[in-house]
Amino acid sequence: MTAPLAAVVLCAGKGTRMKSEKAKVLHAILGKPLCAYPLMRALELGASPVVSVVGHQAEEVERATRAQFPEAPLRFALQKEQRGTADAVRSAEESLKDFQGRVFILYGDVPLVRRETLEALVAAHEQAGGVLSLVSTRPADPTGYGRVLRAAGGVVRIVEHKDATEAERQVGECNAGIYVVESSFLWKALANIRSANAQGEFYLTDLVEMAAAQGAVGSIEADFGETAGVNDRVELAARARELQTRINTWHMRNGVTLADPATTYIEEGVVIGADTEIAPGVTLAGGTVVGRQVSIGQGCILTASTVADGATLKPYTLLEEARAGERGILGPFARLRPGTELAEEVHLGNFVETKKAHLGRGSKANHLAYLGDARIGAGVNVGAGTITCNYDGVHKHLTELGDGVFIGSDTQLVAPVKVGDGAYVGAGTTVTKDVPPGSLAVSRTPQVNVEGWAEKKKARQASSRGKATTG
Ligand code: UD1
Ligand code: MG
Repeated sequence: MTAPLAAVVLCAGKGTRMKSEKAKVLHAILGKPLCAYPLMRALELGASPVVSVVGHQAEEVERATRAQFPEAPLRFALQKEQRGTADAVRSAEESLKDFQGRVFILYGDVPLVRRETLEALVAAHEQAGGVLSLVSTRPADPTGYGRVLRAAGGVVRIVEHKDATEAERQVGECNAGIYVVESSFLWKALANIRSANAQGEFYLTDLVEMAAAQGAVGSIEADFGETAGVNDRVELAARARELQTRINTWHMRNGVTLADPATTYIEEGVVIGADTEIAPGVTLAGGTVVGRQVSIGQGCILTASTVADGATLKPYTLLEEARAGERGILGPFARLRPGTELAEEVHLGNFVETKKAHLGRGSKANHLAYLGDARIGAGVNVGAGTITCNYDGVHKHLTELGDGVFIGSDTQLVAPVKVGDGAYVGAGTTVTKDVPPGSLAVSRTPQVNVEGWAEKKKARQASSRGKATTG
């Protein structure tokens, strides 16, 4: 594949059958908008530039797409009116006027096309040596699809269902809408397409007959499952399920145990090491990286996070932009918010919330704590119910705990505050001043025991009841 490659992805459609305020291509499967998938495939194959043809909700589609691919060589072309697939591709001409080579044409609402299929299409194109090659497919019910017409084995034309004769409608080989076209042919040919057909549209498929006049039209056949688009929310769910199966199968083949693949949601781009075991109901999103021999309990949700080798995540633990170190033990019901960084062997137990918190090796907060804006050393023990009071209503402040610190239960650390290495804080203390290394801080009022108090109280109550009934 040496010839320069560009791509045009058609994303202008409204998607009426989605019955949505949102453009069809922005509906998501496994965490990414539909259009992200074909765009990603084109980018993976080195297409540059990649032009997204937008129309319906053009601004929103452009914004969402750029957010998905901040660094990519993307361009956006506006199709003002939906006049057919040929008109849509023609809208990209201006964006590609400086490009010469091969142009992929893909649909923004067909998310499951595999990279291997596009590579096979390019190979078939090179072998045919013509100006256009296409992907065909055989749906169980071909109604509505363009039919691929052949003569002596070679593709000669595509006829749209609405324009086809009864005999042509008997053809099972359908047009998938995926092409690679030489730019030297594409723009000139598009200019010659007319809309004199059953739908009064500019059909991209008219290119095929023009290309066949210039040389062999290359073709490959792909599974219908791969080329199927999304027209309504039932199809959206079906494509999501297929993608989920594909991704989960890939991970299982790579040595990851999924207890229940049907309820495991792993987004594209997530990395998981071998011998990791994942319980039902887990979601791994946003480029999360999980190491080897990690155990992820039921209901965990990890977003844009990293979990190092040998860690254990007990059920219902949430990580968002967080890093968990080797052999850590987290949860159940722990919540690690953005900026949490845990060294090796940290334990965070149930109902512990962290945010912008760094914990050193072997530190523990096993029950009911909030650690926000905290820098915590190694070997620290944070008692149950400890709270960093990091917010004064205007600003956030830092809490620093040195190595080997012991924080008694129900402590409030009013930031900014520092507790030095090896210091102890007594249970129930409100720490408002720095604690020097090696010292003990206690702020509780001393306990008073009043002997016989309960008996006296009972007697007082009995006498006041007596007054109430006689009085
Ligand atoms: C098209 C093909 C048909 C093929 C089928 C496969 C044509 C004329 N026909 O038919 O041979 O079997 O796809 O699914 O190409 N779009 C725009 N702007 C437009 C029109 C369409 O951006 O003006 C986009 C749509 O949003 C959609 C894609 O292009 O993503 C395909 O358009 P659609 O109208 O669904 O084409 P089909 O009639 O299904
Ligand atoms: Mg369609």
